[in-house]
Formats: sequence, structure tokens, C-alpha cells
Amino acid sequence: MIIGAGYVGLVSSACFAELGHNVVCVDTDSEKIKGLNQGIMPFFEPGIKDLVSANLLAARLQFSLSIKDNINNVDVIFICVGTPPKKTGQADLSQVFQAAEEIGRSIKQYAVIVTKSTVPVGAAKKIRKIISANYHSEYDVASCPEFLREGTAIKDFMCPDRIVIGTESLRAREWLVKLHEKIECPKILTEIATAEMIKYASNAFLATKISFINEVANVCELVGADVERVAEGMGYDKRIGRAFLNAGIGYGGSCFPKDVRALHHIAEENGCLFQLLKAVIEVNSQQKWLFYKKIKTVLGNLEEKSIGVWGLSFKPETDDIRESIAIELIEKLIEDGAKVKVYDPVAMANAQKVLGDRVGYCFSAAYAAEAADALLIMTEWDEFRNFDFNILRGRMRQQVVIDGRNLYDKAVLSSLGFNYLSVGRQ
Ligand SMILES: NC(=O)c1ccc[n+]([C@@H]2O[C@H](COP(=O)([O-])OP(=O)(O)OC[C@H]3O[C@@H](n4cnc5c(N)ncnc54)[C@H](O)[C@@H]3O)[C@@H](O)[C@H]2O)c1
Repeated sequence: MIIGAGYVGLVSSACFAELGHNVVCVDTDSEKIKGLNQGIMPFFEPGIKDLVSANLLAARLQFSLSIKDNINNVDVIFICVGTPPKKTGQADLSQVFQAAEEIGRSIKQYAVIVTKSTVPVGAAKKIRKIISANYHSEYDVASCPEFLREGTAIKDFMCPDRIVIGTESLRAREWLVKLHEKIECPKILTEIATAEMIKYASNAFLATKISFINEVANVCELVGADVERVAEGMGYDKRIGRAFLNAGIGYGGSCFPKDVRALHHIAEENGCLFQLLKAVIEVNSQQKWLFYKKIKTVLGNLEEKSIGVWGLSFKPETDDIRESIAIELIEKLIEDGAKVKVYDPVAMANAQKVLGDRVGYCFSAAYAAEAADALLIMTEWDEFRNFDFNILRGRMRQQVVIDGRNLYDKAVLSSLGFNYLSVGRQ
């Protein structure tokens, strides 16, 4: 059983079913469950619709609103509900505890209850306490944190870099090893606290790489270096690697911001000042405003300026706009009086829920840039990377492109008459 039909729960359900397991995926959102039973996906993720449809057809996958009605004969239960941040940065575990309560009230026989949601160390103990309040027979709790990335979630699930299995009994470990046996990758078998920490430490490290290269980019601008070549030169060093050394407007999304803050909070709660993480968070929150400053430097007063924005999702290949920096910057542009027109290949509907009619929604990238005083690049979709700027020549009010993702070659855009600015390059 998988509890939660979000990005992690739905992908896990479809993939476990594809691996031959019988899966029931439970969510409290009746619209979502109704849609899934009709083959309507609640979000955009490459390949998910086909995988869900094939496994529904093969009767290995079911969707339901009820834990109680489906828990009989279930061997493993994955909790994949949201763990959003509280104002303090602490992870809000109310969805996890609600699921645990329901499990405690419904369970009738041994099962391994696993958190796949990202939860702080100690969560498994609290889950145990909640379940044991109602269920007095044998069961195990465990932790298998999920590392999939939106946009490549199915591949990440099926061919992961590693699987982390945190358990407190041999029986639970054997169940989970068997469950994952068809997935070939290193398996880290450990205790629960370590498993929970591996997830936070991994995300915090990746966020650190991003903030690090953004700081390097800011120095590059001052000294006349090119951050893209610096990252390339660094990346060939196997101890460093090229991934996550992309300078830009900072990290967003539903995971990095909250997980970095949560780890910082966990450290603080335990009397440790995780100074590096504090800096990572600060650098990330200032990076987008450095970009904003560039816009103001070029355009001056934004009142009545027309600005085209390419990209709304927090990264390409997803429609997820949670903590998307694009949305935050657009809010500021609107506040400063700019007229904003946006385009994103898949995230427009989600963005509309937040931005409403305060921006114009365009059916193509070119249309968003038409007659604009500047075009801003916020998300590195391939559609933007491969865009032929010849199309835009003479169609913008000012031929200004300010690129928050370093997608283009300045020489090429300059030769077409564009004033091109990017991050950490001349
Ligand atoms: N999204 C990612 O890329 C990603 C990657 C790795 C780990 N994670 C972690 O996985 C967890 C889930 O993330 P997500 O992005 O899939 O979240 P999500 O918000 O997309 O999905 C959560 C789902 O859980 C459902 N839910 C909430 N309470 C419930 C309950 N009591 N019973 C049944 N269903 C319930 C919600 O209706 C929702 O559909 C988080 O802890 C997140 O940090 C996310």
C-alpha cells in the first residue's frame, strides 16, 4: 500500500506495480482518486500516464480513498504524504501522523510501515507511538527515503543511484530488500536514524553546490571570468563533478528549500549551529534579487514596462511551481508596476491558480516576448534552449534578454542585435 498519490506516491505506486507487485494507492483527495481511476493524472510527469494506465489495465494497481478497506493482507505500507515546512523551518509532520493514526486504527496483521516522505530523525519513533496507541500486535516501522527528481521520476525510481533501507528488525529489512530486489543498484542497509539523515544530508549538499557556484558566479562577474567555463573546469575533477554547478537564480521547488531549512532546524534543536547551511540559505535567498537588480539596471523604472517571462515551473519537465523562483520574481515585477506576459510549456495552469489575471498567459514563447521591453529566462526548458532568436528580431520593443539560467551564447545573441545579460558571465 502507498499512502499519498502525489509526485512520490503516484510514481512509486506505478513503478512498484510495473515491477510486478500488487499496489493500492490511497489518497484523501477524492478528486485526485476519481481522476486517477479515469486515467487523469494529477500532475505532469513524463511517462507517468502510460505507466499508470498499463498497470491499471493489468489489475496490479488500484486507487482508493480508504486505508481501512484495503489494508488486509498488505505486507508493506509506504507513507508518501507531504511534509511541508512550518514558519520555523521545521518539517510539518501532521499529514504523516494523520496517516499513521489511520494505519493504527485499521491494521490487523503484521506489516512493515515505511516512511518515504522526507521526515526528520525521530519521526519513526513518533509514528510507532501513534500506531501502538490503537494496535497492540506485531509490526515494524522503517525508513526508505525517496530520491527521485520530478521530470525524470520514473527513471530515477527504476534505476536509482542507490536505495536506502533503514530498519530496526531483521524481518523488516528482509521484506524491504526482497521488495526492491529487481532494482539493480547499491542498497544501503542501515538503521532508521541514519536513513532519515542520508536524505536530508544529500539534499542539503546539492543545495550547497548550487549556492557555492552562485557565489562563484557573483565573483566571476566582478573579476571578468566566465562561470560556465569555471564550472566545466571544476566538473572534470571527479571529486567535484559537474552536476549541480549551474549558476542562476537559485534553487526552488518543493524539496530543497524545505529540506535545507529542516536540517538546519534539526541541528539547532540539538544544540548545533550548522553555519554552512545558514549561509547556503542566505545565498539562495539573495541570488534572485541580484538577478532582479540586473533587470532594474537595464530597464530603470519598471512602471508600465512590458516584460516577457519564459518558464514558471521551478525546473524543466515538471508543472510543479512550489517555491518556484519565477513566481516570486513575477510577484515583485507586478508589485513594481510592470506588465508581465508569461509562457511555460506545462506549468501555466498551476501558475494561474497563484497569479490569476495579474499576468497575461501566452500560447507560445515568441508571443510572450512580442513587443516586450525585456525577455526574462527563468526555467531551462529545452524549448527555450533551442529557440531560434531570429524569430524575435525586430519584434520586441527593446531587444533585451536577461537569462537567469545561462542558456545562450552571448556572441550569438549579440550578433542578432540583442542586449544579452546572464549570470556570472561578461
Ligand atoms: N516531489 C519530489 O520531487 C520529492 C522527491 C523526494 C522526496 N519527496 C518527499 O516526499 C514527500 C511527498 O512529496 P510529494 O511532492 O509527493 O507531495 P505531494 O504534495 O505531491 O503529495 C502528497 C499527497 O499526499 C496526500 N495526503 C495527505 N495526507 C494524506 C493522508 N493522511 N492520507 C492519504 N493521503 C494523504 C495529498 O492529498 C497529496 O496527494 C515529501 O516529504 C517530500 O519532501 C518529494
